[in-house]
Amino acid sequence: MPPAKGEKAEVFRKNAPAQYTSALFTSHVPAIGAAMDLGKTEEPYWKKVFSGYEWTRQWAKENKPDVVILVYNDHATAFDSSIIPTFVLGTGAEYPVADEGYGPRPVPDVKGYPELAAHIAQSVIQDDFDLTLVNEMVVDHGLTVPLSLVYGELDPEDEWPVKVIPLAVNVVQYPVPSGRRCYELGKALRRALDKWDGPELNVQIWGTGGMSHQLQGPRAGLINEEWDNAFLDHLIADPLGLTDWDHMEYVDEAGSEGIELVDWLIARGAMDDQFQGDAPSVDHRFYHVPASNTAVGHLVMSNPGAPKNAPANTAANTPDQN
Ligand code: DHB
Ligand code: FE
Repeated sequence: MPPAKGEKAEVFRKNAPAQYTSALFTSHVPAIGAAMDLGKTEEPYWKKVFSGYEWTRQWAKENKPDVVILVYNDHATAFDSSIIPTFVLGTGAEYPVADEGYGPRPVPDVKGYPELAAHIAQSVIQDDFDLTLVNEMVVDHGLTVPLSLVYGELDPEDEWPVKVIPLAVNVVQYPVPSGRRCYELGKALRRALDKWDGPELNVQIWGTGGMSHQLQGPRAGLINEEWDNAFLDHLIADPLGLTDWDHMEYVDEAGSEGIELVDWLIARGAMDDQFQGDAPSVDHRFYHVPASNTAVGHLVMSNPGAPKNAPANTAANTPDQN
């Protein structure tokens, strides 16, 4: 049975038509997209970065969801100081790739899932989150670089293999939402999925952005490997505890752009173990410094009920501290 209307369920719905199978977390560094678009992935500098995604690309071929709810942050591309929505849910059918100053990336436009997005909007807004619903917007590297990392090089006339519901979090213009608020949005999102009584769906939620980086000011270039790895450890084992870290903790320790990591808490807050289910598996973990001005972090985690189509080769599964 789906949870009753208005009920803030604390237990997940077993055998729900919409199954949240896996969460994927990754940095979304724009230079990674440029490296792919300009054919530089075999250069030693970039090879090290992409090596951490080889496992994932294989896994992604064997674990194709119907839809990805892709949590990211816009970088003053679709939104600017004229309108600053804290949480944007993309309810449209299609999202063109933005021109971020060098022309749009040569990748396919992104196809949405308006029916599921409308259902999520209804449920999450009734669950007391005042989302901004956006039918028309462009999407920047925050959304396209994770798709490229997971699904590889595609031409603009190709199609991404999944539908995408964009969920954009404002972490660019203050005030930003807290990690706690993002985690709670994740819980509301899971309740929305559990109420879906449409066709059966395999759903993944991705959290993107981070890890530590600061692009401007006296601390530009800051990277904090110890803190990043503590964040990953807590995200895996103690996401609720992680919500005690306030936004200044992220900024002090991980730099002004490290705040992007709050995006990751939405995907994690929606997992089974936050609804009295069992702990997720950690299928893949990767950490590497540097890529452009940041540390790259990447995790794939699956809910216990998810099909286990893990690639045999887990060699890339060792954290890379270079
Ligand atoms: C860089 C990283 C980002 O996440 C971003 O949004 C912009 C720039 C960088 O490393 O330069
Ligand atoms: Fe960013």
